[in-house]
Amino acid sequence: MSKPLDRLTARFEAKLVAVGDLIRTRMESRHAPRIPEVTAHLVGAGGKRLRPMLTLAAADLCGYRGVDDEKLAATVEFIHTATLLHDDVVDESSQRRGRATANLLWDNKSSILVGDYLFSRSFQLMVETGSLRVLDILANASATIAEGEVLQLTAARDLATTEDTYLQVVRGKTAALFAAATEVGGVIAGAPEHQVLALHAYGDALGIAFQIADDLLDFQGDAAATGKNVGDDFRERKLTLPIIKAIAVGGAADHDFWRRTIEQGDQKDGDLDRAIALMQSHGALDAARSDAREWATKAIRSLDALPDHPVRATFAELADYVISRVA
Ligand code: IPE
Ligand code: IPE
Ligand code: MG
Ligand code: MG
Repeated sequence: MSKPLDRLTARFEAKLVAVGDLIRTRMESRHAPRIPEVTAHLVGAGGKRLRPMLTLAAADLCGYRGVDDEKLAATVEFIHTATLLHDDVVDESSQRRGRATANLLWDNKSSILVGDYLFSRSFQLMVETGSLRVLDILANASATIAEGEVLQLTAARDLATTEDTYLQVVRGKTAALFAAATEVGGVIAGAPEHQVLALHAYGDALGIAFQIADDLLDFQGDAAATGKNVGDDFRERKLTLPIIKAIAVGGAADHDFWRRTIEQGDQKDGDLDRAIALMQSHGALDAARSDAREWATKAIRSLDALPDHPVRATFAELADYVISRVA
């Protein structure tokens, strides 16, 4: 694990135990044993716990001293877990967190329904904080995540997809939850409005940098390190940033290749390597990396409005960390 994540894990050790307990007790079901089975398979594989950490850290940064941040952190991780169950069905993925996915081990129906259950459980948890503002933020984020995933679905296979559309997808499916995670931390702490806005802006930019890096890792990552298969996006014919950039600068010969592999889905052995070589020769991987770096810089800049606090420095390091995965 990375230094900033280690530091946050150590700082919030006791609270993270409480969050883990909440997740374990709230994933139970009295009537349907399939629910805890499927959830425990995914939750038990770990995950970075990045989003709940963002909530705990944002609350701490704004001087919060209560325990509702634990409920919100568990809520955020529940929403994340639900979206992962759904996402692996949509993406037909077979590996997650180094394990076989739930859709592969059980079936799509179980993943969808257990995901729905976890979404509902997350809403029960956030209601317990009694804050309508927090409910508003997390309900909006949930809707925005689904919107991002659906937009991605309709943009897939379309070679005319623009960088603007990609940004909208990423803002929705990934950055919305990062932004909500940091924002509710500030809200629960009663932070002044300009700080809540800054926390939202930080989470948004961090989430975008994170997803661009994740999309790069889909081409150049190592399954042993990411716990996910390499090349899933290409096989799913998703127009992620490196491909969009490569298509924009490639010539007619390239276009035939992209039309066959992405638009028509006629993929042969060696096509993934050829796609990577094309992206490399057109500087598309470097350009996407540089966009990720710009978003990380934006994230760091939004921290200026926040109080001087050890967590603020760690948040800045975290922005560097998310792009260091592809540096
Ligand atoms: C995976 O998120 C989904 C994306 C937004 C790319 P993480 O990489 O944070 O997943 P875990 O929780 O650590 O497994
Ligand atoms: C991540 O989507 C966002 C959500 C799970 C909602 P991806 O499909 O890009 O992420 P991975 O690569 O499966 O983790
Ligand atoms: Mg996926
Ligand atoms: Mg997906």
